[in-house]
Amino acid sequence: MIHTRVSGTGSYLPGEPIGNTELIERYKLDSSDDWIIERTGIRTRHLAPAGVASSDLALEASRRALQAAGCEANDLDLIIVATSTPDYIFPSTAALLQHKLGNDNGAAAFDVQAVCSGFVYAMTIAEKFIRSGSHKRALVVGAEVFSRILDWSDRGTCVLFGDGAGAVVLEAANEPGILASAFHADGSHHGILSVPGQVCGGTVTGDPFLRMDGQAVFKFAVRVLAEVAHEVLDAAGMTTSQVDWLIPHQANVRILQSTARKLHLAPENCVVTVAEHGNTSAASIPLAFDEAVRDGRIKRGQHLLLEGVGGGFTWGAALLKF
Ligand code: UT7
Repeated sequence: MIHTRVSGTGSYLPGEPIGNTELIERYKLDSSDDWIIERTGIRTRHLAPAGVASSDLALEASRRALQAAGCEANDLDLIIVATSTPDYIFPSTAALLQHKLGNDNGAAAFDVQAVCSGFVYAMTIAEKFIRSGSHKRALVVGAEVFSRILDWSDRGTCVLFGDGAGAVVLEAANEPGILASAFHADGSHHGILSVPGQVCGGTVTGDPFLRMDGQAVFKFAVRVLAEVAHEVLDAAGMTTSQVDWLIPHQANVRILQSTARKLHLAPENCVVTVAEHGNTSAASIPLAFDEAVRDGRIKRGQHLLLEGVGGGFTWGAALLKF
């Protein structure tokens, strides 16, 4: 039987961290450092400079993941980028990344759009390709420049998000790596988190900024993150007591704490990066994953539970032995 293991991780954050007070002053927001920290846990975020696109952030994160995996761009036969802030309408950010990486062996490359669940979606898809035997080594990336779709006069959303990218290399293995994965959607909730605009006839129609009903999203997120965690644990015949690290989507520290509590996991077993990164949507899980690998918290052989929830609504989880 073919299994899929994570052979390397990488991540990249653009520029210097920007603190709450600096952001509030820059955009003249009616907000405070105290409110943002108390309600979200966020202290800083990174914002990509003008001209830097998702594929640029993805490139740096991917180079680091490839180096960690000990392989070259041409060892890849599949490249998937999860993003809701692609460089262009088309071609895909994955195709642009493939070119920037110097992969010229005809690897498949495409984007996945599942907002903040995008990385879990992309990882689940790549795992199925590898397990089927059709592909051997995949690069799975979450890359976002959410700063480009924020309404900087809307204090309820603009303080929450940041830019960044994270990547993993997945490859075929004899021993189990990814033990179970699941992904879901319920489009009836499309209105509580969306960017309801489009390009039409050369102009933007509708609303090109992120809009969110924060409280509705909060409640939905806490419920489905607990449900999908149990779904993958049950599928693998495991319990939460066997999970070494929970690596959830990083939106709000209160959602993370509440999810860990519901799963009876100690806060120390939850990787939390939202304080420094803000919400980087599809990039948040691989950014948190890579940070905890590089600082030595996550070790080979440990069991990791990755899970995300986002616009659509979409949600999913992956349970793996690292
Ligand atoms: O990645 C996708 C997933 N996204 C999420 O998971 C986000 C989920 N939602 C949340 O994290 C929280 O709902 C928020 C952080 C967005 C908001 O926190 P909240 O505790 O739900 O606050 P609220 O929306 O109920 O607003 C409370 C008050 C309001 O003022 P009034 O009406 O009580 O006078 C808001 O206008 O806080 C006000 N407020 C702010 N005040 C200062 C909203 N944003 C700000 C702000 N600074 N930045």
